Amino acid sequence: MASEGKNLVGVDIGSTSIKVCELKETRRGLSLVRFGFHPLPEDAIVDGQIVGPGAIVDGLQRLFHKQRRKHVALRASGHGVIIKKISMPILKPEELREQIGWESEQHIPFDRTEVQIDYQVLGTREADGQMDVLLVAAKREEINDLTNIAREAGLRPVVIDLDAFTVQNVFERIHGMPPHHETVVLIHSGASLTTVNVISRGITAFTRDIAMAGEAITEDIQRRLGVSRAEAEAYKCGLEGYGPPPPEVYPTIDETVDRLAAEIQRSLDFYLATSGDDAIHRIYMSGGTANLDSLVNTVAARQGVVVERLDPLLAAPPDPKLVDPTALMGRSLQAVVSVGLALRKEKERR
Ligand SMILES: Nc1ncnc2c1ncn2[C@@H]1O[C@H](COP(=O)(O)OP(=O)(O)OP(=O)(O)O)[C@@H](O)[C@H]1O
Ligand SMILES: [Mg+2]
Repeated sequence: MASEGKNLVGVDIGSTSIKVCELKETRRGLSLVRFGFHPLPEDAIVDGQIVGPGAIVDGLQRLFHKQRRKHVALRASGHGVIIKKISMPILKPEELREQIGWESEQHIPFDRTEVQIDYQVLGTREADGQMDVLLVAAKREEINDLTNIAREAGLRPVVIDLDAFTVQNVFERIHGMPPHHETVVLIHSGASLTTVNVISRGITAFTRDIAMAGEAITEDIQRRLGVSRAEAEAYKCGLEGYGPPPPEVYPTIDETVDRLAAEIQRSLDFYLATSGDDAIHRIYMSGGTANLDSLVNTVAARQGVVVERLDPLLAAPPDPKLVDPTALMGRSLQAVVSVGLALRKEKERR
């Protein structure tokens, strides 16, 4: 990825909160110079759809109050997006640009006029005259809604990215590209969406979105115990305020976590069965729901692989003079996408 110019401000509008992150290149490397967190009400984003734009505009305005830098990289929710690895005959860049629209029609179940297409050549296989291309199609309407909200809050959206790629950006910044013989899986689990991204032979080999994450666990606790959402959330996250959690909380968490881990396993089994790859070597998890030990442990047990958490602060340690450490406390796994977005630059070609 060729890039120049200043780092953009990363703005991750998730279904439960907005995360804002700003990085700066210093002589000692990258440093985190700003982190902002603003919780969103339950009815702002439902099932990945923006239904209460006012609360989001208001949150953004608060987070950017008195801030001069307004050029931002936004995260698009994966709900309206399709990512596919496709094979095409080897083409020159300008030929590919012309043909990708037609090619995408065969792979994307939406009308071509309704989607915005982006793509990246992953590699060429000279022997059989083919190249692998990563095709990304996002519903134009959803992207427009998102950028309109940002503009209404006074921001200038420059880049739009997806969870899977921002997490991969952070991973590569910390650990480098894995060697070709190693298959690494990045799993990002937030409130409504869990994204699985397999990196193999140095490229994104497979991605899948699972429409289940932390919110499903909270809802199950709420239903099973007959408590409010706030109470269920507090029990799940180990927060104070409602006293010690009733004992039924833990089996409820474990059951829902196991359903999610089973879904993840199904995705990885599918990848292994169809890719010719024979093993997964390392798994890294991020997103708020990766705070749950039971999720990390269940994924590790089901896959038989060590699972680590991806700490974005290793990519950009916070500047203690500028970032209040309490703002980040317990939230570093939730900050991964905003850090990945903030790694993007103003002038950049992917
Ligand atoms: N310590 C914790 N233990 C368990 N769950 C937690 C903890 N901290 C946060 N979570 C859960 O993580 C989720 C929020 O994570 P995150 O901020 O990554 O999601 P989001 O970006 O708002 O959602 P999405 O990307 O899915 O739209 C919530 O479901 C929250 O309950
Ligand atoms: Mg998120």
